[in-house]
Amino acid sequence: MTVTLAIANQKGGVGKSATAVSLGSALAKDGRRTLLVDLDPQGNATSAIGSSKELPLSVHGILIREESAAAAVTQTSVPDLWLLPSSLEMASAELELVPLMGRELRLRAALAGLQGFDVILVDCPPSLGLLTLNALVAADHVIVPVQCEYLALEGLAQLVSTIDAVRARLNPPLSIISILLTMEDRRNRLSMQVADEVTSHFPELVAHTRIPRSVRLAEAPSHGKPIDVYDPTSRASAAYAAFAHEIESRLAGRRRVATGVAS
Ligand SMILES: Nc1ncnc2c1ncn2[C@@H]1O[C@H](COP(=O)(O)OP(=O)(O)OP(=O)(O)O)[C@@H](O)[C@H]1O
Ligand SMILES: [Mg+2]
Repeated sequence: MTVTLAIANQKGGVGKSATAVSLGSALAKDGRRTLLVDLDPQGNATSAIGSSKELPLSVHGILIREESAAAAVTQTSVPDLWLLPSSLEMASAELELVPLMGRELRLRAALAGLQGFDVILVDCPPSLGLLTLNALVAADHVIVPVQCEYLALEGLAQLVSTIDAVRARLNPPLSIISILLTMEDRRNRLSMQVADEVTSHFPELVAHTRIPRSVRLAEAPSHGKPIDVYDPTSRASAAYAAFAHEIESRLAGRRRVATGVAS
């Protein structure tokens, strides 16, 4: 069984792509066959994993021309981690989707044709447009990265109501599996206050693991390597490994509930 996780927050620069790449690499290290889908026209996850945005096959052809997803999947330098890359053509995808039949369902249809992955992670763009909608329709669960900064909660209500609408109309099982606090700075009182505020709003959803603000993590994308390859001894690498374990145990808990097995 493949589980698909969308990494979404319409707020920009909150750590979605850093989380997609770092979590993907940590899950692969745990032996999960993991596919990273870069749905963002910016292609940050594609470059951060050391791949090109100029490959002939990308997520664009899959969404717009219904090309095979399997053909566009490429290996990364990390064992057990694969990539469905973004491309320069993705810049127009949001508009090109508008007149197409089943425009919200295209990613789900494409990913349903893939076999052999334990986890699919979808990195979303910073908007609630058709691309993010495709990710929410294709996903089982959503991970919401939230930056420990002023106005962190802004937009979360809108994201939650979008997820509720997708659940009601297109994807009944969809749920938020985790809110991940990112770029935490323990020496900064505001950063800690924001983390506490988000936790008090969503006590059950906020992950125990928090990702620290880390210069090494900010450097890693320019080397085309995930943090656990670029600097396995860094605090950010340890934090993403812990978050991967937390996601694995939350998923196992959901499966137990779904199959009616007492935990
Ligand atoms: N924990 C962290 N510590 C320091 N820098 C970080 C951390 N997480 C992410 N960054 C850096 O912050 C910037 C924004 O992160 P990222 O690209 O992951 O956010 P995003 O939500 O994907 O952005 P966008 O909305 O534009 O897609 C990047 O330069 C990234 O390298
Ligand atoms: Mg991003």
